[in-house]
Amino acid sequence: MSDATTPLVAIIMGSKNDWDTMKRAAGVLDDFGVPNEARVLSAHRTPGELTAYLNEKEAQGVEVFIGGAGGAAHLPGVIAAQTVRPVLGVPIESQSLKGLDSLLSIVQMPSGIPVGTLAIGAAGASNAALMAVAILANSRPDLREKIVAYRKERADKILSESLE
Ligand code: RP5
Repeated sequence: MSDATTPLVAIIMGSKNDWDTMKRAAGVLDDFGVPNEARVLSAHRTPGELTAYLNEKEAQGVEVFIGGAGGAAHLPGVIAAQTVRPVLGVPIESQSLKGLDSLLSIVQMPSGIPVGTLAIGAAGASNAALMAVAILANSRPDLREKIVAYRKERADKILSESLE
């Protein structure tokens, strides 16, 4: 088991430019009190360092990896190739194809090495974090209670909204 300071979730992104999107994942994890860390590592620009980082984090007790990448977005698949921990992929919205390239690159993993793919952009980043919390909550009742409270808060807000 991890101690309080060891990250349970590692967020990896292919470029510093992805942080505007991926910081939403970190924010959600912080809100739930889930220790996390974020790192820029590229599948094609720093492949050796990526492998070393994954090995180090697995040994430290990271339980979920979140990978965000844009364009020919192979990063989440390359992460999944090197760990049996759950890997969640966030397609970054690209300039040329608005993230459709990123989405298809991440979601179309061949059978055998899964990547749980979320929506393009900010919604995908926050949902990746919520999915990571749900995975961790399977063995952590306190986190499960926080998810229930989060859902109730959102439901109460909708129910309290008026059109006037
Ligand atoms: C990918 O290429 C990154 O994930 C990023 O979204 C995209 C463009 O990278 P930069 O040119 O912005 O560094 O590796």
